[in-house]
Amino acid sequence: MNIILLGPPGAGKGTQASRLEQQRGMVQLSTGDMLRAAVKAGSPVGLKAKAVMEAGELVSDAIVSGIIGERLDQLDGGGGAIFDGYPRTAPQADALDLLLSERGKTLDHVIELSVDEDALVDRITGRFTCAKCGEGYHDRYKQPATAGVCDVCAATEFKRRPDDNEETVRTRMAEYRAKTAPILPLYEARGLVSQVDGMADIDEVSRQIAAVLDRAT
Ligand code: AP5
Ligand code: ZN
Repeated sequence: MNIILLGPPGAGKGTQASRLEQQRGMVQLSTGDMLRAAVKAGSPVGLKAKAVMEAGELVSDAIVSGIIGERLDQLDGGGGAIFDGYPRTAPQADALDLLLSERGKTLDHVIELSVDEDALVDRITGRFTCAKCGEGYHDRYKQPATAGVCDVCAATEFKRRPDDNEETVRTRMAEYRAKTAPILPLYEARGLVSQVDGMADIDEVSRQIAAVLDRAT
């Protein structure tokens, strides 16, 4: 099964995608993670993307659809893909249809995480991750069980994203409203969209997503 998790910055796409990966053997394809890895590696894509990401704007459609195509070629079939942060524009939605059909795959479900945008600024500016394994945490909603020690790998270093400041978050939200929200009706017309309450706590959101996917299988 191939699904899209759609929602504004901080809606919980990454949190839920990594749970689905662990629980269902699906593969998380996060264009944000792929671009951050490219920036860190200093690759040609990373050099182009760095300033755009730090400003909270969108990287070009050709770049992101190119990296998604490469990753789809590396998938072994298995449990399917979770698209996290992709597609984000109408041209990306068209590109995804083509990338999937060229590989004999289909898009089975679009899960919209509906959220209150004001709460998202608080979620994003409180977010941090383990510097070693990438496990996500939050100053108020998800602290490590032992303060300062990662629950998963016991590392003691954590990091914050350079685009997680309030000004950049506001730009990212404006980009979402202007360019990403308009693709939802296209998927609604195809009967693919289910709404999940992204304001519920993390476990409850996971339960709601599981219910949608179990109904769909
Ligand atoms: P990307 O990395 O995709 O960032 P984003 O869409 O802004 O999403 P986030 O990662 O901020 O949020 P999320 O929904 O994953 O929330 P999370 O689970 O972490 O993109 C970054 C940049 O890359 C873009 O701005 C753009 O420049 C570029 N880019 C990426 N893809 C692109 C594309 N396709 N086209 C063009 N450019 C692209 O949760 C947030 C926090 O809240 C965490 O701390 C978490 O613990 C907490 N939390 C999660 N769920 C809950 C809950 N239910 N209750 C309480 N807290 C919660
Ligand atoms: Zn860790």
